[in-house]
Amino acid sequence: MPILQTERWIADRRKRSTETWIYGTARPKLFVRSNSAPHFSHLAVARRRMLLLPAASTAKVLNVTLARFSAPLRSIAPGLRRVSAIGRLRRALRYLSDASYREMLYLQRYRPEAVFQLSTWTREDRYPHLFADIAARLGDRADLNVLSFGCSTGAEVRALRKALPQAHITGVDISERALRTARRRIRDPRVRFVQGSVPGAAGDVEYDLILCLAVLQRGELSRLRPDDCSQFISFERFERAVLDLDRYLKPNGLLALYHSNFRLADTRLAANYVPILFAPPHREQRALYGPDNRLIPDAQDLSILFVKQAAAHADSSVG
Ligand SMILES: C[S@@+](CC[C@H](N)C(=O)[O-])C[C@H]1O[C@@H](n2cnc3c(N)ncnc32)[C@H](O)[C@@H]1O
Repeated sequence: MPILQTERWIADRRKRSTETWIYGTARPKLFVRSNSAPHFSHLAVARRRMLLLPAASTAKVLNVTLARFSAPLRSIAPGLRRVSAIGRLRRALRYLSDASYREMLYLQRYRPEAVFQLSTWTREDRYPHLFADIAARLGDRADLNVLSFGCSTGAEVRALRKALPQAHITGVDISERALRTARRRIRDPRVRFVQGSVPGAAGDVEYDLILCLAVLQRGELSRLRPDDCSQFISFERFERAVLDLDRYLKPNGLLALYHSNFRLADTRLAANYVPILFAPPHREQRALYGPDNRLIPDAQDLSILFVKQAAAHADSSVG
């Protein structure tokens, strides 16, 4: 029936233009649900967005303002660090304004045994010293397999792509939201992003280089510096994660492990890894804990890149 087909075509066009108006790009999952009454549900979503967006922006501005005022106050009176009212208010504002934070809180609540660092914060060219070194060591190799574990929104993968133009790169992250951004930003046939909480999520691949940067830590520890860290993350979990990374690294492979709350040197793998690069000292001090989960005061671990000893591989290979 030609007339009906035309009507359907017009309805379809109208629906698609409404989708584009609300979201910029289509979001299929939402629209599968709203197919039965597309116009009403689109209006409802638009109305909700019109109310929620300003509320979220206001919460963000309030949170940033509060952070500006509370930081100088804390430096005058360090005891303020423990005033929980300010912290609670800031967390509530962040909850309202930051969808990634909401996702990580959800993971922390429902998969506490799986998640490490709760923040997905990253930045372009965050470790120039490290990537220059990696480029010098491996830049001319064509057959490399590289894993960026905890790749977040992909800045690290982009730095890897520049340093190793021919490598196959796998980014793994527990945050589906961060990966959505990474996939949108990086379209490269030799890059893939996989959602998961362990290195094996991307399959039984053996890598030449594994990066695990700012993942095996919890931000609160460096801020609050409790004497015992086990309430947030324990040495046992750290060691298990490092053993798991080790299973997927080839003999003589490189492991970039940095910004953790524990040291590789304290784990059972210490003898298998030799540090070959150290980060330049910096002012910001990450809280460092020992195998007994007790704070090691005034300590900093600057080792950033390790080589896996070939002999060590025999008893820890992928299986
Ligand atoms: C602070 S970001 C670090 C991003 C990047 N590696 C960097 O150094 O800039 C920490 C990332 O680790 C991810 N993460 C936390 N626990 C994880 C887990 N068990 N498996 C994979 N990723 C995890 C978070 O989702 C987040 O994107």
